[in-house]
Amino acid sequence: MTDYRECAIRHLTAIDPGAGVGLDPAVEHADTTQAVRSNLSLVAGIALLLGLVIFGWAAPDTFNVYKMVHVVAAVIWVGGGAMLTVLALLTEREGDPNVLMSLGRKAEFLATRIFIPASFVVLLFGILMMIQGSLDWGQFWVISGLVGFAATFLTGLLFLSPQTKKLNALAAEHGVEHPLTQAALKRLLLVARFDVAVLLLVVANMTAKPFS
Ligand code: HEM
Repeated sequence: MTDYRECAIRHLTAIDPGAGVGLDPAVEHADTTQAVRSNLSLVAGIALLLGLVIFGWAAPDTFNVYKMVHVVAAVIWVGGGAMLTVLALLTEREGDPNVLMSLGRKAEFLATRIFIPASFVVLLFGILMMIQGSLDWGQFWVISGLVGFAATFLTGLLFLSPQTKKLNALAAEHGVEHPLTQAALKRLLLVARFDVAVLLLVVANMTAKPFS
């Protein structure tokens, strides 16, 4: 039995003992719809994986497969970061410290579980392409890709990560709404904006390949 259904039964029995025996059809329907939605999300994930395998399989050569993985990972990383930045700007405008903090916590989760692994996939497949295609490491777009990666890596290591720890400590000590906590959060979001701007410039540079 799902948590949702258990919660509904507990709620109903609190109002009317014995109500859990025959559940409200609307609750039953919501439960079924939720289960169908979860299954459809799984189908979307499987369709994506299958599509990547088929496209990779049918690619003209290994270089294109590497490029496919490199670009898909870059889209997840840079696109995800860019959207999170816009969301943070909109949330900041709403002026609710709790909602902003909640977004900050989600951003931390996304950074560690999705963006950092995706960034390493981008780097790895970038290097593999360079070797596979015997490309010149001295080209401007390659150097700026490496510099962009190093910049974002160091920003994460030296600023974002320790500041996130500090932010969590401030939230635990003073609470989410305290000016010190909110100032630390806003500082973090500001630096993250510059980080995303650098990454978008790397994408622009890597596609236009100027000065090469
Ligand atoms: C900040 C990290 C990076 C991002 C966001 C990024 C993004 C991209 C994108 C969007 C493309 C497609 C452009 C095209 O095919 O014309 C691309 C291609 C490529 N990237 Fe990156 N990249 C990054 C880092 C790197 C690094 C560090 C390397 C090398 C070590 C690299 C090597 C390549 C190569 C070889 C191509 C294929 C170019 C071609 O086919 O002409 N990338 N990258």
